[in-house]
Amino acid sequence: MDIRELDAQDPAARRAWFEVMETSARANRPHALLEGFTAFEVSVTEPGEHAHRVRLEARDGDDLAGVAELELPLTENLDVAWAEVNVLPERRRRGTGRLLWEAVVDRARAAGRTRIGGEVSVAPVDGGPGLEFADAVGAVEKHREDHLLLDLPVTAAPADPAYDVVTWRGRCPDEHRPAYLAMRNQMNADVPLGELDLEPVVLDDARLASSEERLMRSYDVRVAAARRRSDGEFGGYSLLFVPHGEAYGWQDDTLVMPDHRGHRLGAALKTVNYADLTGDVRVVHTWTAPSNAAMHHTNTALGFRVVEHMHEMEAAI
Ligand SMILES: CC(C)(COP(=O)(O)OP(=O)(O)OC[C@H]1O[C@@H](n2cnc3c(N)ncnc32)[C@H](O)[C@@H]1OP(=O)(O)O)[C@@H](O)C(=O)NCCC(=O)NCCS
Repeated sequence: MDIRELDAQDPAARRAWFEVMETSARANRPHALLEGFTAFEVSVTEPGEHAHRVRLEARDGDDLAGVAELELPLTENLDVAWAEVNVLPERRRRGTGRLLWEAVVDRARAAGRTRIGGEVSVAPVDGGPGLEFADAVGAVEKHREDHLLLDLPVTAAPADPAYDVVTWRGRCPDEHRPAYLAMRNQMNADVPLGELDLEPVVLDDARLASSEERLMRSYDVRVAAARRRSDGEFGGYSLLFVPHGEAYGWQDDTLVMPDHRGHRLGAALKTVNYADLTGDVRVVHTWTAPSNAAMHHTNTALGFRVVEHMHEMEAAI
C-alpha cells in the first residue's frame, strides 16, 4: 500500500478521491451528511486563506483503498489539526486506516501541531467501526452532539410581535453588518464545546466577507434575523445553507443574544428560513449538543429527530 497526496490539478484524481470518501463514509450511515462534490471542488481548487488542507490517498496498484483529509487551521488554533480517515468497506481491517492515520500524524507534527481532532458519527444501529478505530489510535472523546433531521414542510413558529424578522440571502446587507458581526462573534464565543479546548474564531468585516463569498460558490446562504421594534436592536439570527442542486438544507448557527432570550426567537427564525425554501428541499440537517437543553428542546419541538450521534474525538500527537 502506497500513501500519496492527491494530485489537486487532476480532475479525474479528484473525482476518484471524492468517490472513495463518499462510498466509505456512507457505508454504515444512511443519514450521513457529507460535503457535496461542488463544495469539495471549490475547496480543492480554490483553497481559502484560513486553513491548509492536505488530501491523502492509499493506493494498491491502480486502485484506491482509502483516503484521508488533514486540515491545518492557519489563523487560530495553531496547535490543532483536524483529520478524517475513510477506507472502502471491502478494504477494511488490513491496516490501511492505520497507515493513513500515521501519514496524517507525520504531516500534522511537521506543521507543529500537538493534537488532532476528528468527528466520528455513528448511526444508532450498525454505527460502524469509527469509534473502535479512534480508540485504537489513542483518541478520546471531548464532546458529543446529536445529528438531527427534520422533514419539510413544518408549521411556522410565530415570531414575537415585539420583533421584526429581517432576511437576506448571500452577503449580509451593509446596514446590518455591524450587528450581524457582533452576533456571529457572540455565537463563536458561546457555542457549547464540552471539553474541546479551542480558541474561538473572531470575525471582522473582511473575514466575514471572504467567508460569505466562498460559501456562496457552493451554497444558497440564507439568514433570518430578529430586530426589536422598540429600539432596532438585533436579538438573534439563524443561518441555513442549501448546497447548489441538492434537496436538503443544513441548519448551521442559531443564536439568541442573552438579553433577548425567552421569546422563542430561535424557533421562529428557523421556520422563517424553512418557509422560504422551494418545494425541492425536503429535509434539514442540524447538530446540537444534548447538553444544550434549550436548543435541543427547540429542535425536537419543531419535529427534528435524532438520527446519529457525533463524537468529537481528539488524540495528542
Ligand atoms: C474507521 C476506518 C477508517 C478504519 O479503517 P481500516 O483500514 O479498517 O483500519 P485498520 O485496519 O488500520 O484498523 C486499525 C485498528 O482500528 C480498530 N478497528 C478498526 N475497525 C474495527 C472494527 N470493525 N471493530 C473493532 N475494531 C476496529 C482495530 O483496533 C484495528 O486494529 P487491528 O485490526 O489490529 O485490530 C474505516 O472503517 C472507515 O472508513 N470507516 C468509516 C469512516 C470513519 O468512521 N472514519 C473514522 C473517523 S475519521
